[in-house]
Amino acid sequence: MRILVTYYSLTGNTRTVAEAIFEALPETKELKPLAKVNDLSAYDLVFIGFPVHSHSVPARVETFLKQLPAGLKTAIFMTHGSIPGTRLSREAMEQALILASGTRILGTFSCRGKVSEQALEILSRSPEHELWTEMAVTARNHPDRHDLEDARAFARWIVSLARQ
Ligand SMILES: Cc1cc2nc3c(=O)[nH]c(=O)nc-3n(C[C@H](O)[C@H](O)[C@H](O)COP(=O)(O)O)c2cc1C
Repeated sequence: MRILVTYYSLTGNTRTVAEAIFEALPETKELKPLAKVNDLSAYDLVFIGFPVHSHSVPARVETFLKQLPAGLKTAIFMTHGSIPGTRLSREAMEQALILASGTRILGTFSCRGKVSEQALEILSRSPEHELWTEMAVTARNHPDRHDLEDARAFARWIVSLARQ
């Protein structure tokens, strides 16, 4: 099985999760940032990761998900600052599932990722973001070793599904 792990990451959290997934995979495998991916025809399984931006899938990831070959086996992962299960993070995964719905999505994984000081600083200036900022602060130690352990277990689980 030829496996690709690709990701979009601005501050490194999603890349760290991508690396954990990659580490747990059997050969033959490749790890590449999304901007370096051209042709997906060489792969049997593709893991795609992104950070949540403004409740959504970042625009360039949206374009990528829309163009995936029909029937390709995929697994989607994301990192987010807000508390798991809140609309602020959930909606982005729901959007990603719709965008990639032409593929065979074998599973999804998400965990929290620290919000950059710069993003927190900007957000804390507007009153409507006060509560969001308070929530985002508690993501500061993520992804932690438990998140990465989960990511590795997720990777192995997806591979077992892809082999069936
Ligand atoms: C511009 C911007 C917007 C964000 N919007 C959200 C959001 O709506 N919901 C959320 O849970 N996290 C949000 N975050 C937090 C990121 O999703 C989180 O920190 C993520 O782990 C960053 O991943 P990266 O380091 O791979 O870029 C935002 C971060 C930035 C910089």
